[in-house]
Amino acid sequence: MAEMLPAVPLRLDGKVALVTGAGGGLGRAYALLFAERGASVVVNDLGGDIKGEGKSSSAADRVVEEIRAKGGNAVASYDSVEEGEKIVQTALDTYGRIDIVVNNAGILRDRSFARTSDLDWDLIQRVHLRGSFKVTRAAWNHMKNQNYGRIIMTASTSGIYGNFGQANYSAAKLGLLGLSNTLAIEGQKYNIQCNTIAPTAGSRLTETVLPQELVDALKPEFIAPLVVWLCHESCQENGSLFEVGAGWIGKLRWERTLGAIVRQNNQQMTPEAVRDNWKQICDFDNATKPESGRDSIMTLHEVLNKLGTKQGISTNPTSGSLQTSTSGTNLIEAIGKRLSAPEYAYTNLQPILYALGVGMTTKDPDHLKFLFERNEEFSCLPSFGVIPAQAGMFGSLASVPGLNIDFTKLLHGEQYLELYKPLPTSGTLKSECIIADILDKGSGAVLLLDVHTYNESDLVCFNQFSLFVVGAGGFGGKRTSDKVKVTVNPPSRPPDATMTDVTSTNQAALYRLNGDWNPLHIDPTFAAFGGFTKPILHGLCTMGFAARHVLKQYANNDVTKFKSIKVRFAKPVIPGQTLETEMWKEGNRIHLRAKVKENNEVVLTGAYVDLVDTVHKPRDDGTSMRELQSDLVFAEISRRIQDVGREMVKKVNAIFQWDITQEGKIATQWTIDLKNDSGELYRGAARHQADTTFMLSDEDFMQLVSGKLNPQKAFFSGKLHIKGNIMHSQKLEMILKDYAKL
Ligand code: NAI
Repeated sequence: MAEMLPAVPLRLDGKVALVTGAGGGLGRAYALLFAERGASVVVNDLGGDIKGEGKSSSAADRVVEEIRAKGGNAVASYDSVEEGEKIVQTALDTYGRIDIVVNNAGILRDRSFARTSDLDWDLIQRVHLRGSFKVTRAAWNHMKNQNYGRIIMTASTSGIYGNFGQANYSAAKLGLLGLSNTLAIEGQKYNIQCNTIAPTAGSRLTETVLPQELVDALKPEFIAPLVVWLCHESCQENGSLFEVGAGWIGKLRWERTLGAIVRQNNQQMTPEAVRDNWKQICDFDNATKPESGRDSIMTLHEVLNKLGTKQGISTNPTSGSLQTSTSGTNLIEAIGKRLSAPEYAYTNLQPILYALGVGMTTKDPDHLKFLFERNEEFSCLPSFGVIPAQAGMFGSLASVPGLNIDFTKLLHGEQYLELYKPLPTSGTLKSECIIADILDKGSGAVLLLDVHTYNESDLVCFNQFSLFVVGAGGFGGKRTSDKVKVTVNPPSRPPDATMTDVTSTNQAALYRLNGDWNPLHIDPTFAAFGGFTKPILHGLCTMGFAARHVLKQYANNDVTKFKSIKVRFAKPVIPGQTLETEMWKEGNRIHLRAKVKENNEVVLTGAYVDLVDTVHKPRDDGTSMRELQSDLVFAEISRRIQDVGREMVKKVNAIFQWDITQEGKIATQWTIDLKNDSGELYRGAARHQADTTFMLSDEDFMQLVSGKLNPQKAFFSGKLHIKGNIMHSQKLEMILKDYAKL
């Protein structure tokens, strides 16, 4: 044992302690020690027998006299703990306050379970559990108001471990632990602490069960010092459980096996699976020690993530687990897989909510057109385009066979968004998502998700999400892909313009209402789990700030001028920090870099916004886009339609729109109308509703019509996007096949 240093005694002067059942046994020892240390003591005891029958004031009175004889302050209370209010009132009437409550009163009505009567059960619950509740509740508000309180619950090893003949008592005693655990949580912010002890000592309760030598040896004085320490203001222990006796004290806690997941996503969970995993469920090797209900819920979050049934959870980069599935499907095979995406229906509310989410404010008069639906120019911010694309994406990503993503290892690395027309301020958009590529970066895998979003058959925008899955590299994939929308560094000169905005403390709380419910952005525990000191701002929210800065600086907030944005998320932003967007104008390209002003950390890199005029117009370097080869084909088709006219219209009876892309951007549109009159082909989007819309690059179009590219393959590899009635597309073959000779 360590050598004892002369210590400052723990004093309780000025404090008022209430000890129930203090007329004898343990309670008496507590009362005496509290008084010796300067506290004023309410000595409560009903004075009945061990079974809870009868009553007398003598027990409490004797202890009060003992205390007074030693010069201490004490007052007797003879009420049953079931009348908690009265006992607490005695403290208030006599001493004007209540600081400490030791719930100690107790009786025994031991019976084997089969012989336990209703009365045996009820009396035990009433004295131990209900009595502790009543006394504590009566004191609670006083403790809250004075911002100080110490509470002790008395459990028993019979409750912790079970004991023959004490079913009623065990239940009540461990019920008190549950009560204590919750009071510890509820009281914490008021400096009310609640702990539980499971004592063993000689008393009239134990003299019938313990041998006399033990009853003599296990003195109540060996319990009292723990109680006094736990009730001292310098003790910060809260919500704990101690076994104590014979001068020894030990703390208890929960231990939990790593356990086993016994079901698979979208499959039934069966009793057989439980049986088959039983060993692992019960294996305490590498067991953990959960400390709170949060630990428990975190485990369930993790399980749901592993099963892929929870959307958009955490981004904690620790170790990788983008695994190939047991069926042997590998990551490379997941390339080209299409993901189902739900429709995104929205009213004016969502664009307004989004505008607020990215920091727009009525303080700025020209923000009104994004915040007020009756403003004449009411518009949807261009960067809102990420919202419909993202809706439901994580869920469907989780369901791709072969892709077994651990969402806790997922980082949003980069984002590209391109608009083909201003976003509607309300409507229903439908997205098509494809795994465009999966790159092997060694330390992780990069998932490129291409999402085309349509309003009816009109392509409204294109998003490329670049997701980094930490630790999932090394699967033998390629390092780069021509599908990647690359980042571009800004010029080396100082920025041409900067714009600054303070994010609000609630920025992430607001932004998440757009549908990104990842708790990382709101729950401090979850954020800590991901290695962050606080919940962080959504990367896409930071992008939203930067996008609107450019829109204001270089496009006078005219949404029709906004073409595309590309960003890389370099560092997290904490809500409340100041964002500064630095901008460089190079023709129609605005390079940008976003920083957190407080620490000068760069949070968006390699970023740019292209304003509309870049398409079709000569580029900055003086070159213009190449001629479209497909134009020739459409000219030929036009001639043919005129030849066959009505006959073809009757057979096909459909309208086809073609969106021909060049360098990833729509370069032109063609419509073949084989529904109206004698048939017609014209440049531009369909004047009447198109039945089927195709999107593909100029080169792929040529490959397709020359028969070198199979339409099915083109579709499944993501080269050809089809929107609308897919069956009609077969009829097209009859128009196209003859052009193989071109
Ligand atoms: P004890 O019988 O000496 O003390 C209990 C006191 O509570 C008695 O003075 C009794 O008159 C009083 N009491 C009973 N019903 C009451 C009511 N309705 N209102 C007010 N006072 C009432 O027993 P002991 O051993 O000192 O027990 C104290 C506490 O410690 C009890 O809660 C008991 O269950 C618990 N405990 C004791 C153990 C031991 O080894 N002594 C083991 C585990 C738990």
